[in-house]
Amino acid sequence: MSPSHDQRFQQLSTLLAEWQALWRPLPFQQRETPWGGCLPGLADTLLALPDDEVQRLQAAPFEASPLAAWLPVDELAALVGLSPGASPASALPDDWGEGIGARKWRQIQAFASRVSVGDHALVEWCAGKGHLGRTLARLHRRPVTGLEWRSALCEAGQGLAERQGLAVRLQSQDVMAPDAGRWLAADVRVAALHACGDLHGRLLTLAAETGTAVSLAPCCYHRTAAADYRALSRRGRALMAEHGLRLSREDLAMAVQETVTAPRGVRRHRARANAWRLGFDLLQREARGRDAYLPVPSLAYGKLPDDFAGFCRWAAEQKGVELPTSVDWAAYEAAGWQRLARVSRLELVRHLFRRPLEVWLALDRVRLLEEAGFRVSLSTFCERALTPRNLLIETH
Ligand SMILES: C[S@@+](CC[C@H](N)C(=O)[O-])C[C@H]1O[C@@H](n2cnc3c(N)ncnc32)[C@H](O)[C@@H]1O
Repeated sequence: MSPSHDQRFQQLSTLLAEWQALWRPLPFQQRETPWGGCLPGLADTLLALPDDEVQRLQAAPFEASPLAAWLPVDELAALVGLSPGASPASALPDDWGEGIGARKWRQIQAFASRVSVGDHALVEWCAGKGHLGRTLARLHRRPVTGLEWRSALCEAGQGLAERQGLAVRLQSQDVMAPDAGRWLAADVRVAALHACGDLHGRLLTLAAETGTAVSLAPCCYHRTAAADYRALSRRGRALMAEHGLRLSREDLAMAVQETVTAPRGVRRHRARANAWRLGFDLLQREARGRDAYLPVPSLAYGKLPDDFAGFCRWAAEQKGVELPTSVDWAAYEAAGWQRLARVSRLELVRHLFRRPLEVWLALDRVRLLEEAGFRVSLSTFCERALTPRNLLIETH
């Protein structure tokens, strides 16, 4: 029998709190092993792993993991095992996906066919161009109101809906504004696919107040105004206090950091950017005479300078660091790649706690709705390869 939401929530709270000294520190920012001398042998085992084993464990952290000799791998695996939703995902006609990217369209097909619509009127939350809303309108033959604050997206989405003859209205609405609650009511179901932190938090709070049904795939838990996480549910707040579990915005970001589903070219590009950052980190420590990590702004894909020296000059300028006149670029670059190999191995510890943290955050949302009197399911709506943000929270 699978554990109840509350049992899962409680057990995950215990494990996340118990092991926070291991999963919280960022190996990227430290020259030493972040967990120091505790758990002897763990770092040596990780550092000895061949590249293909590192990649395998990044993709499947719970399978045949050498970390099981030190860490509660099987317990964590059992707690994150969720069943796929009850209704099968149906493939929808290709022409319904007009104007939608291929991957997004597959996600929408999987999500839309799992929404339990019943007699409810439908609202899409943070709708973008209303791709999900149009699909729901067609699939369930009923009008949909899409809420989106960017008017250009509303206009583009309205154009698409009208061309396809669908009763979809894109409404310009800031969902964080005081009047956003006017779209919610007990006879409404709100569907939200990949709504970020505060945006879906707002939806859940309003749904709990108004009795509105919800079908939510949460995303980007760290996109919040608050620097420190305050659990949404009373149960979550009690468990955090009981176990001394504290979560910063940076901790929340771990729940959605994935490398494995990106295409190979993107992964290679990301590896180079990370190796260069780590090489620059060594250089800036020397140049500043301070053995401390210095965060460098992120760079949009395609904006990475052509070579390592160019990257370091850019980074130094961003951070006001004066570089020496003569630098052995090749040596620092090689050291950056070496550090990347080390960091990706040490980070396997964090990989192990990533999905447990995400499921814990989802359970906090589930418990908020349960505390408001809803019956709630937590399942997956698609394979992780299609999107790692594949959790579906639904009221019934
Ligand atoms: C991550 S996208 C998700 C869009 C769509 N549901 C999807 O899955 O492609 C988030 C959307 O929320 C919109 N958004 C952001 N802040 C908002 C706000 N305060 N009120 C309404 N919409 C907002 C953005 O413009 C964007 O279209």
